[in-house]
Amino acid sequence: MVMTGSLLMEKIVSLAKRRGFIFPGSEIYGGLAGIYDYGPLGVELRHNIKQHFWNRFIAERDDVYGMSAAILMPARVWEASGHTESFADPLVECRVCHGRFRADQPTDISAHEEWHKHKKEKAEWTQPTIFNLLVQTQLGAKEKLENIQQSTVYLRGEITQGVQVNFKNILDSMHPKLPFGIGQIGKAFRNEIAPRDFLFRQREFEQMELQYYIRPDEAEGKKQFEYWKQFAFDWYQSLGIQKDHLRLRQHAEDERAHYAKDAWDIEYNSPMGWKEAWGIHHRGDWDLRRHQEYSGVSMEYTDSDTGGKMLPWDIECSGGVDRAVLFTLLDAYREDELNKEVRSYLALAPKIASVKAMVSPLLKNKPKLVEKAHEVHAALKKVHSAIAWDDNGNIGKRYRRQDEIGTPFCITIDFDTLGETSELKDTVTLRHRDTGEQERLTIPEAAERIRLAIQ
Ligand code: GAP
Repeated sequence: MVMTGSLLMEKIVSLAKRRGFIFPGSEIYGGLAGIYDYGPLGVELRHNIKQHFWNRFIAERDDVYGMSAAILMPARVWEASGHTESFADPLVECRVCHGRFRADQPTDISAHEEWHKHKKEKAEWTQPTIFNLLVQTQLGAKEKLENIQQSTVYLRGEITQGVQVNFKNILDSMHPKLPFGIGQIGKAFRNEIAPRDFLFRQREFEQMELQYYIRPDEAEGKKQFEYWKQFAFDWYQSLGIQKDHLRLRQHAEDERAHYAKDAWDIEYNSPMGWKEAWGIHHRGDWDLRRHQEYSGVSMEYTDSDTGGKMLPWDIECSGGVDRAVLFTLLDAYREDELNKEVRSYLALAPKIASVKAMVSPLLKNKPKLVEKAHEVHAALKKVHSAIAWDDNGNIGKRYRRQDEIGTPFCITIDFDTLGETSELKDTVTLRHRDTGEQERLTIPEAAERIRLAIQ
């Protein structure tokens, strides 16, 4: 059974904590709103999603370079990019309880008014004020008061600017020909007024992005925009997300970020409604032109055939890593009945799953079974490092534990594997998570089955 609604969100938040995927940040000190820590299973899941992005958008392509820029950047970068001026949300405060909300989120506002109504009170709002989302910090020694201003820097509000300020470095070191892309993955920080919905709106989160630079030409812009829109949509689906749970939606003109000539979102049908998972933006020459103006350094690309100079346009694919983790978990959650027992499992795509397979001896007090199981475990570890070992409790319980974290395969070593009573020597049972069905395979066949599934 596929589950929907806020109950589903509660189940995922609880499973994520209980099974070591995601914890509230600094929890023993009461937590920090909009900040989360990843546990052993979460960090693997997140790593697999990032790796899948890196492979498809960067490593497998001859026209894209990878890079990794610093998080801290001087204020001037954000003045040039337009973020100090325009990267802001309208904030209102409830005078009764001092709760702060985004004035442009009517559902949150009316939910808050309803909450006060239930308490026989009336919410009263301040006038909206514009609240900048950039997170500031101070760098360097500050003995003298007058130096404080000089050391104010920003934690990047989008990872994009790290690429834009290195555009010339990439031109000079790699000598690429248009069209070409620069991709990266990394943390971004936003002082969100109302962080909420678990990983959905955080203050510290990770982005995976591609800036694809093209000739400044309308027809080329349209062609490339369509190509990357579809590429990103196909990639999102390849996380294993059900096709009818994803859609593309164009931004209305007044909804677009200050840098965008055109913008589309990939949206996911979440328990909170259709929500943005990914953005595709036509940034034109906004960033390069502004950095050229503010830094005084030419950002022009020279055509090696004609010698002509131009400021390329940028088609951007920008996705939230944590939102991909959240939507993948929500989409994968299932409850059903197996062998007359209710169970919950995560139908994660094997390439994304934190653990690829679990190996287990049927009984843990039979040394020969345990020894053989260790041998199989070591052999499968050569296929992938994320092969778990579990000999705790009975075999049914071990299967349930693995189902709950989305392990696609369980391999059991029994007396037939030892060949003591049958010709099935050196074969194992391979159990499939979604159906609970088991098949008998040789050890190399089981290894190959896993290898193919996780590609
Ligand atoms: N460089 C373009 C850019 O940053 P964006 O639409 O503001 O565009 C891109 O962000 C993606 O980053 C979003 O589609 C979303 O997946 C993710 N994202 C943005 N704000 C977020 C937040 N507060 N918490 C988690 N993810 C967020």
